[in-house]
Amino acid sequence: TPMADQERRFRASAVAAGRVATGPRRSPERPAVTDQFANTPDSDPALPAVRQWAREAVSRQPAPLTSEVLHSPDEVDRVVATARAAAPGWAARPAAERAGILREAARRLEDRRGDLLTVMAAEGGKTVGEADPEVSEAIDFARYYADRALELESGAAVDGARFEPDSLVLVTPPWNFPVAIPTGSVLASLAAGSAVIIKPAHPTPGCVEVAMSALWDAGVPREVLQVVRADESDTGKALVSHRDVDTVLLTGSIETARMFAEWRTEHPRGPRVLAETSGKNALVVTPAADLDLAVADLVRSAFGHAGQKCSAASLAILVGSVGTSERFRRQLVDAVSSLTVDWPTNLSATMGPVIEEPTDKLLRALTTLEPGETWLVEPRRLDDSGRLWSPGLKDGVRPGSLFHLTEVFGPVLGLMHARDLDEALALQNATAFGLTGGLHSLDDDEIAAWSEQVEVGNGYINRHTTGAIVQRQSFGGWKDSVVGPGAKAGGPNYVAQLGQWFPEGIAS
Ligand code: ALA
Repeated sequence: TPMADQERRFRASAVAAGRVATGPRRSPERPAVTDQFANTPDSDPALPAVRQWAREAVSRQPAPLTSEVLHSPDEVDRVVATARAAAPGWAARPAAERAGILREAARRLEDRRGDLLTVMAAEGGKTVGEADPEVSEAIDFARYYADRALELESGAAVDGARFEPDSLVLVTPPWNFPVAIPTGSVLASLAAGSAVIIKPAHPTPGCVEVAMSALWDAGVPREVLQVVRADESDTGKALVSHRDVDTVLLTGSIETARMFAEWRTEHPRGPRVLAETSGKNALVVTPAADLDLAVADLVRSAFGHAGQKCSAASLAILVGSVGTSERFRRQLVDAVSSLTVDWPTNLSATMGPVIEEPTDKLLRALTTLEPGETWLVEPRRLDDSGRLWSPGLKDGVRPGSLFHLTEVFGPVLGLMHARDLDEALALQNATAFGLTGGLHSLDDDEIAAWSEQVEVGNGYINRHTTGAIVQRQSFGGWKDSVVGPGAKAGGPNYVAQLGQWFPEGIAS
């Protein structure tokens, strides 16, 4: 009966709201820790005082850069030797001491929240709404990985094996999350007991410098944690393939991951590379969805930070009648057209600039259509900088097209159509990547079927596909979105992958 049907949907809705399928099944996570972990709250923009504070923060000039620029392989050798010499002392400190420093780092990062907003706006073009949660995430990483350090030493994370941390981890972070990802990667390494060298992404070195200064102020020795820039490709290569670096933690494009792997084959004794890379992420909307919620989550997933997230939804796969619903289409077009595109100094901006003038690949996605496609909202270049673009929405993306299968990393959302959920899943799983994916449906059976079959590291049900949350929704990929075992950031195994495990009783 319609009544029973409605009841069923409401029940499903209660169960499914915000629920997360964690996949992939091939790399099972340890059970979630039982300790209470409360995530750090973001600043509340409804408070006038907070808006005033944020307005001042994004209007300031960031401090000048101070990190060293390496110009030669000899300088790379020196920095690596310094870190390696400092590593045993750091590893030998009791975990409680290292965890204490990480907790202090959490407090110092909170103290620097405004400075971090300043530098994220100036270097990364991040709006306050995107930048503020990044600071919260960095703080969460500090507190969460402090707990993992204690757990590792206590043996609670260990099944009859002994952990020895890597001596030296090299962190090569991305520019799109210029605070949370570098800070999280560094904190995990420090929690494991490793020394760290971090080479910021070239557009966002100041973000890394401010965040790392919070860690130094908290008591991390300068030799144990070094920030270096290496803009010349041969110095970068010397660092990434250095035989005294144990692990490179890369978050970046699949192309960069492949380049690092290539360098590694030239240097057989070079470091292992653990990488979280690209995505081509889709959100499936079925006729059993709350369509209002689906529109809101699509817009947030596709256009947050102008679509420049590995986790961004770049495709909406509309099942059956959703694809022909005039109301849904109208709402989506209106929502996309209503975004306010501006620089972060405008606190009302809901979408900021892209990181630099678009590359050929992004420009093609913003300005051309493939066969079968039509613009529902055509992107426009808004100013002379070439960095401000209004968002694009297009219909008719065809299976197997470039837009279906390749990452764009910009503010364009494409619509695809599927007869049923099976066909939608086939389209969603057709890409080489497997980072994030979403389903909007209030139907229990659809949720179960989708959760079972979707090939992504992070599957989100009735929620946007970006903004994983430490401990609650650890973040990582599957298929070509990951290089290495794929332990998830902000999850129980991340720290424990940064070293070697020896069976009890066997000397290393
Ligand atoms: N951790 C980032 C997100 O979930 C990439 O959006």
